[in-house]
Amino acid sequence: MICDFLTLAAPGVRTLQPYQPGKPESELRREYGLSDIVKLASNENPLGPSPRALIAVREALSGLARYPDGNGFELKTALSVKLGLSTAMLTLGNGSNDVLELAARAFLTPAHEAVFSEHAFAVYPIVTQAIGATARVAKANPPDHPMPHGHNPSAILELINDRTRIVFIANPNNPTGTWLKTAELEALLAAIPESVIVVVDEAYVEYVEAEADCPNALHWLSRFPNLIVTRTFSKAYGLAGLRVGYAVSHPQVADLLNRVRQPFNVNSLALVAATAALDDVSHLERSKTLNRAGMRQLQDACRQWGLNWLPSAGNFLCVDVGRPGREVFLDLLKRGVIARPVDNYGLPQHLRISIGSEAENARLIEALGAVLKD
Ligand SMILES: Cc1ncc(COP(=O)(O)O)c(C=O)c1O
Repeated sequence: MICDFLTLAAPGVRTLQPYQPGKPESELRREYGLSDIVKLASNENPLGPSPRALIAVREALSGLARYPDGNGFELKTALSVKLGLSTAMLTLGNGSNDVLELAARAFLTPAHEAVFSEHAFAVYPIVTQAIGATARVAKANPPDHPMPHGHNPSAILELINDRTRIVFIANPNNPTGTWLKTAELEALLAAIPESVIVVVDEAYVEYVEAEADCPNALHWLSRFPNLIVTRTFSKAYGLAGLRVGYAVSHPQVADLLNRVRQPFNVNSLALVAATAALDDVSHLERSKTLNRAGMRQLQDACRQWGLNWLPSAGNFLCVDVGRPGREVFLDLLKRGVIARPVDNYGLPQHLRISIGSEAENARLIEALGAVLKD
């Protein structure tokens, strides 16, 4: 009789629900025999990476027999110049998910708690639970709030106690797209005790428009030494497939994060691609312009259908489809379009749609229009 390995698993892992990624195109091709597929399900950049990143990757291919630079010297130097801060404040990750997990591993124990909001990014509960720490979930804003389903600073503060070690704040948040404005986040950071690590996850920060008043939390690092800001090359930089992200924090915090990091967590192609991508300001600008236009395209269609959507400062829109989002997701799949149901985030009537190229958005709009008529 084979032993029941579930009973052997660490308590937090026993009840852990794995992360549900966006459905890969290859899976839809296999399951439905479709060839012309549009994927708008993982908030990727429809322009792809900077051509400079691709050149750097090609040049680095011949060195694949060697381990990567475990300290990521060149990428850290490029980031420190770009962001105007010391390399001692940086921790590189295999995507920003990796640094989110490093923060949990460095600071949480089964005796501690992590606080985050309802509808917040799914990796926070996973990294908390895997360690056996307790997740405390703050009520989000009500649907009639100007920032519906967004983080509610007072609800977050109410859950902080002597056992709290980490607060996770996605700004802007995925899957809602909502954000805490500058004054709100600043007041929240000021109200959180210095003994609580605050992770501000800025995966979408490059897409933020000035008028949104969504802050760049790096400005507060010297004022709040308990702050960790995480960022990624997966979204606006178009490098999701290579897995590279980073954390910026007080050097002592960075030292702790680096202690739990795997020796070569960022591969050599990711290192050179990210370094080259950072330099390509015009590619980033093109990506943002495309996103702005695509956002308008999708919002115009929603307006015509009479559908509401949540405010979004990212490269995706969370749309209230007025019926079970998972059913709409399945109907779209049959038409070769992959979007993202968000019932697992407590939003059963919403569908999260990533902004694609103009043609991809048009395909989605045509397919969704047909599904909504059924
Ligand atoms: C809010 C947020 N944080 C972090 C991530 C992780 O991205 P990556 O691990 O690709 O950097 C994502 C990805 O979807 C995200 O939406």
